[in-house]
Amino acid sequence: MSQPKVVVENLSKTYITKDGTQVEALENITFHVNEQELLCIIGPNGCGKTTLLRLIAGIDTPTRGRILIDNQETKPGRAALIFQEFSLFPWRTVLDNIKFGLEILNVPTQESHKIAQNYVKLVGLEGFEQKFPHELSEGMKQKVAIARALAVNPPVLLLDEPFAFLDAQTRNRMQEELLRIWEQEKKTMIFVSHNVDEAVYLADRILALTARPGKVKTVCEVALRRPRQRTSQPFIRKREEMLKTLIEELDT
Ligand SMILES: Nc1ncnc2c1ncn2[C@@H]1O[C@H](COP(=O)(O)OP(=O)(O)O)[C@@H](O)[C@H]1O
Ligand SMILES: [Mg+2]
Repeated sequence: MSQPKVVVENLSKTYITKDGTQVEALENITFHVNEQELLCIIGPNGCGKTTLLRLIAGIDTPTRGRILIDNQETKPGRAALIFQEFSLFPWRTVLDNIKFGLEILNVPTQESHKIAQNYVKLVGLEGFEQKFPHELSEGMKQKVAIARALAVNPPVLLLDEPFAFLDAQTRNRMQEELLRIWEQEKKTMIFVSHNVDEAVYLADRILALTARPGKVKTVCEVALRRPRQRTSQPFIRKREEMLKTLIEELDT
């Protein structure tokens, strides 16, 4: 067995607010993600999903525990994070948005242009290179965000409910696109969702968190072949099973 790509060990996070109250967001979380695996994390609102991704991305520090990526403590820049809201620069074109991370890394202009073009193609935005974010549909904007994150070749891609604001049809199409990209790029991905259908469609494994403070409730494998059929009995059964897990948490 090869080393897991990501190891999260006994992770806890307590926020201290301005007035001094403590908010326990995560409590003693342990799990791992394998190389090239697509792990979905689901859990009720406020259970600490965004907190967990921020900790894995190294942009916030845990109160206890540790996170290893490729056997080394995480730090900013090691895992790319894609947010719920599109975080594109409105004054930059599609191509220049995708180049942003490469510029930070001082990749020479010609090479960065080549890489960015390649990712434009990967996410299917050829012909839109010179458009500005306001000229794009919501789904296209999120494709730019994905291309920008992938362009710097991060070992792990973290996605925080990236399709939450899309209409159902666009969301389904984006899920298919994401799977295509994932298969082509062979990336390790952690995808946060509060949508059970989305998690069952995408994931190799689903990790369900409890209500706040988030603890690991279950980790379950989704042993369904891709492309998955949402209307098939095994899919529906899996979705019901995961829904039950979530509903238990909403009731508590
Ligand atoms: N910077 C912060 N300071 C204080 N509390 C916070 C902060 N960020 C998040 N929280 C609290 O931590 C809990 C988990 O938040 P979050 O990780 O955003 O949950 P989720 O993404 O699952 O909805 C919530 O109760 C939230 O209010
Ligand atoms: Mg969140």
